[in-house]
Amino acid sequence: MSTSKIPWQELRTLALHATTLSYAPYSHVTVGAAGFTDSGSVVTGSNVENASYGLTLCAECSLVSDLTRQGGGRLVGISVVAGDGQPIAPCGRCRQVLFEHGGKNLIVDDGSDHPERTIADLLPDAFGPDDLDTRSNS
Ligand code: THU
Repeated sequence: MSTSKIPWQELRTLALHATTLSYAPYSHVTVGAAGFTDSGSVVTGSNVENASYGLTLCAECSLVSDLTRQGGGRLVGISVVAGDGQPIAPCGRCRQVLFEHGGKNLIVDDGSDHPERTIADLLPDAFGPDDLDTRSNS
């Protein structure tokens, strides 16, 4: 999948719409995510907070759940925005979650005309599935 095929404007629109579906009564920071897969499908997610704050689900986790329920696949591009429509930095945990489902070349929208920022830029030297294969004792 060529990165020039990623429909960034569509992803941004879907991510912004997803912020309207957030459950964020505690922080009031609504976050939406929209991703594009190697088979050309689109997946979305919204943050879902919890009264036990640490149990909050980020929009990216919600998106990965959507990806899995749609039958899986590899993420090639993702937009994550707050309610103002501007990109929001994926948190540390979500960088790891996104790495699992997109690998180092997954492009994370930075709001520019031609996004090139990868998850490897955001999470250098990531631990991932390959490490389990090569570092297992058995
Ligand atoms: N949030 C996300 O949904 N994704 C991120 O990567 C950063 C943070 C949400 C979690 C919480 O509901 C709100 O933003 C404030 O932290």
